[in-house]
Amino acid sequence: MLVIRHDEVRDILRGAEQAVLELVRDTYREHDAGETVVPHSTFLRFPGESANRIIGLPAFVGGEQPIAGIKWVASFPGNLGRGLPRASATIVLNSMETGRPLALMEGAQISAARTAAATAVAAQTLAGPDPVRSISMIGCGLINFEVLRFLPGLSALTLFDVSRARAEAFGARARQALPALDVRIAATSAEAVAAAGVLSLATTAIEPHMTLDGARPGAVVLHISLRDLTPETVLAARNVVDDVDHVLRERTSVHLAELATGDRAFVHATLGGLLRGTTTLPGGGSSIIFSPFGLGALDLALARYVLEQALARNSGLAVEAFQQPV
Ligand SMILES: NC(=O)c1ccc[n+]([C@@H]2O[C@H](COP(=O)([O-])OP(=O)(O)OC[C@H]3O[C@@H](n4cnc5c(N)ncnc54)[C@H](O)[C@@H]3O)[C@@H](O)[C@H]2O)c1
Repeated sequence: MLVIRHDEVRDILRGAEQAVLELVRDTYREHDAGETVVPHSTFLRFPGESANRIIGLPAFVGGEQPIAGIKWVASFPGNLGRGLPRASATIVLNSMETGRPLALMEGAQISAARTAAATAVAAQTLAGPDPVRSISMIGCGLINFEVLRFLPGLSALTLFDVSRARAEAFGARARQALPALDVRIAATSAEAVAAAGVLSLATTAIEPHMTLDGARPGAVVLHISLRDLTPETVLAARNVVDDVDHVLRERTSVHLAELATGDRAFVHATLGGLLRGTTTLPGGGSSIIFSPFGLGALDLALARYVLEQALARNSGLAVEAFQQPV
């Protein structure tokens, strides 16, 4: 079994944005074509507190080199105060010949990259063929920063965070990474909503705290954190998801909208369906909200790429005696 460390995963993913975007696009298409198996994620929560959780995402991805495995991802928001990232993750890949584990790898960077690439694919698909030039980001953490890497055409960025200090630190890093970028800090989320036609929401809010009042006509809202928008806002928009059964769970904003109305008719399309042309979105000037639950199949497709690259570069630590020898 190959153990692949944080720095090795980082080196493999650095500069691989195009390959990651292609993998993510292909995996959404495969998911729509029924070539993946993605059981419901298992949420482990702890007595007497609601902030921390660990989620298990098992998955199978078919195709020429089928793979199975699981991402085990912990979210401990208090880590930010310890100078650590909120999320940490481990991915196990299993052989489809023997079921035996092939690799154990650091998964937080894979998870962040697939989330950001999925956001960029959704932005390109929903906001039209031209590169996104202007975006507002609500929630100035690791995921939104990763999204910047996958939107190379950006020229204007508006930021809002409940912590002004985090918005300013994010803005300073963004200016350093992309010196031509015009970066502004908004005083309220409403100001950020009005500032651009594409919005990326990646907060740690667990209850709805905002609407899209004042949004530009046909605004594209990338609702990565899933629980920011009120159910009324969801119901007034055109809704695109990654997987209907997955995202209408766990008190996401779209789940709350389903609980309020008793049906799912407000979900108009899946991203995979739009990419394959098996579904279309209704026209009109209402906002388009993309709510991705986050498919384990994306993590595994990307982890398979990391394993292939690690083998080709001779990186990773081969642990020979991990299991019974053949
Ligand atoms: N859908 C998916 O596939 C997927 C994948 C990965 C992460 N996520 C979600 O993305 C979110 C962001 O992850 P991260 O790693 O960037 O977290 P992070 O902790 O690094 O950053 C979150 C930021 O949101 C800010 N924030 C909290 N509440 C806010 C509010 N009401 N308004 C504005 N800002 C607020 C915090 O101050 C913090 O700066 C998390 O909720 C995570 O669960 C979703």
